[in-house]
Amino acid sequence: NSMLSWQRTAFHFQPEKNWMNDPNGPLFYKGWYHFFYQYNPNAAVWGDIVWGHAVSKDLIHWLHLPLAMVADQWYDKNGVWTGSATILPDGKVVMLYTGSTAEAVQVQNLAYPADHSDPLLVHWVKYHGNPVLVPPPGIDEKDFRDPTTAWLTSEGKWRITIGSKINKTGIALVYDTKDFINYEQLDGVLHAVPGTGMWECVDFFPVSKTEENGLDTSVNGPGVKHVVKVSLDDDRHDYYAVGTYHEKNSTWIPDQHEIDVGIGIRYDYGIYYAAKTFYDQNKNRRVLWGWIGESDSEAADKQKGWASVQSIPRTILFDKKTGTHLVQWPVEEIDSLRLNSNEFNQVTIQAGSVVPLDIGPATQLDIIAKFEIDKEALEKTTGSNLTFSCSTSGGAAERGALGPFGLLVLADESLSEQTPVYFHIAKGSDGNLKTFFCNDQSRSSEASEVNKQIYGSIIPVLKGENLSLRILVDHSIIESFAQGGRTVITSRVYPTKAIYGAAKVFLFNNATDASVTASLKIWQMNSAFIRPYPNDKKS
Ligand code: FRU
Repeated sequence: NSMLSWQRTAFHFQPEKNWMNDPNGPLFYKGWYHFFYQYNPNAAVWGDIVWGHAVSKDLIHWLHLPLAMVADQWYDKNGVWTGSATILPDGKVVMLYTGSTAEAVQVQNLAYPADHSDPLLVHWVKYHGNPVLVPPPGIDEKDFRDPTTAWLTSEGKWRITIGSKINKTGIALVYDTKDFINYEQLDGVLHAVPGTGMWECVDFFPVSKTEENGLDTSVNGPGVKHVVKVSLDDDRHDYYAVGTYHEKNSTWIPDQHEIDVGIGIRYDYGIYYAAKTFYDQNKNRRVLWGWIGESDSEAADKQKGWASVQSIPRTILFDKKTGTHLVQWPVEEIDSLRLNSNEFNQVTIQAGSVVPLDIGPATQLDIIAKFEIDKEALEKTTGSNLTFSCSTSGGAAERGALGPFGLLVLADESLSEQTPVYFHIAKGSDGNLKTFFCNDQSRSSEASEVNKQIYGSIIPVLKGENLSLRILVDHSIIESFAQGGRTVITSRVYPTKAIYGAAKVFLFNNATDASVTASLKIWQMNSAFIRPYPNDKKS
């Protein structure tokens, strides 16, 4: 067991033991950030799901509280599943969640804090008239789950959406309510995409076209776009698209049908699922939580006694520059964990070389890097590798004219274990460049039975932009943000040698024709306090 204890993270949220999945009902209340999550109190695998609960002053340091809700009613006997919080105009909180009934029917339930004067919201009451919603006609009783945060219509009603499917078409059903007890199902759906299957954990929220801040879920009007996010049960990835919400007929239309939800852009091209945002009225921002699962074997999870972590909460904004993407960035509070740093300015990495970065321990890091590829080489290169894609390529070992180049993290001295985080540029015969952002797990571990996929995606790089990266390394997690968070990749890796003091960082450039210049700042990261709430202080 202690053999595997290095895999435990130092500044990502995780319970002390056992299984965790989706983030639930995040909110800010009376000075505290609340985080609830899908939790199995009995084992390191999915099952017996209840709501775990923790609070924080800064989204980084956490105190575990008692379970918020357990499976103690007929309407959630088989599991207290995913749900969302809504803060009412008077400051009170309501929670809507999915219960899986004793017969495994998916229904929606209402819960609220027992004592609104308790900032910790320790005790929760389930509404005596639950369930408040059952699967409507035409919807399978196992395809009706994960209600969103409610938003206000101009008539003053609350509106929610719930994911489902009809045959293979993913859909989002829409309901209006005045009191969270009685609901009216609206005609049609918010949106539907054929071939995408069951939509889990739908999220729906406004983003500002002009301002660098988040918007409360009910905000609408000129200057606002709306995002729909779905978690595809079949494909295990979160997809979003930016579009227009039409309140009158309760529909949402994507700006570009070719990149509709479920077929276009992902929050994260690595291991990341069931994400949920909330509007943080404390700092006027929208914050995204996401579940990072394991990619080792279930047997290994049982052996280590825990499974899954949550991503570092990410601030989410509309990317004005592309108009299609969102930008995700670790919440600013993470900077408070930064310790000493090393800077490397204008390091030249010749084609086909590796440069060690002498920074000391390398298991808890915050890395910021900028890359410039040799301009002459860029111009000289004639068409190369037009059909490139990260996942079908040979990874960082496959050489192209203009890439790959980037960093090797969680690497041992001999490079027998390494996880390359890198760019790869392809040039069309028309002279146009395509940039890819990838993460190669193929040599991340000498262990078998761990995921060794190559993750990644094409990434828009606009005229005049440098290539830039931020990487958070935390023992067995690598969260990488390219171009200010336009494209994100999260990897879980399980090295056997590149652990503790043996873990190192390198720059690499495996292009055949071009040298690359890199400038970096690398911080050692402190551990966060994530521990039980002191018993003597609990209300
Ligand atoms: C997504 C999900 C949800 C469900 C919950 C059950 O990961 O399957 O659809 O509510 O997890 O734990």
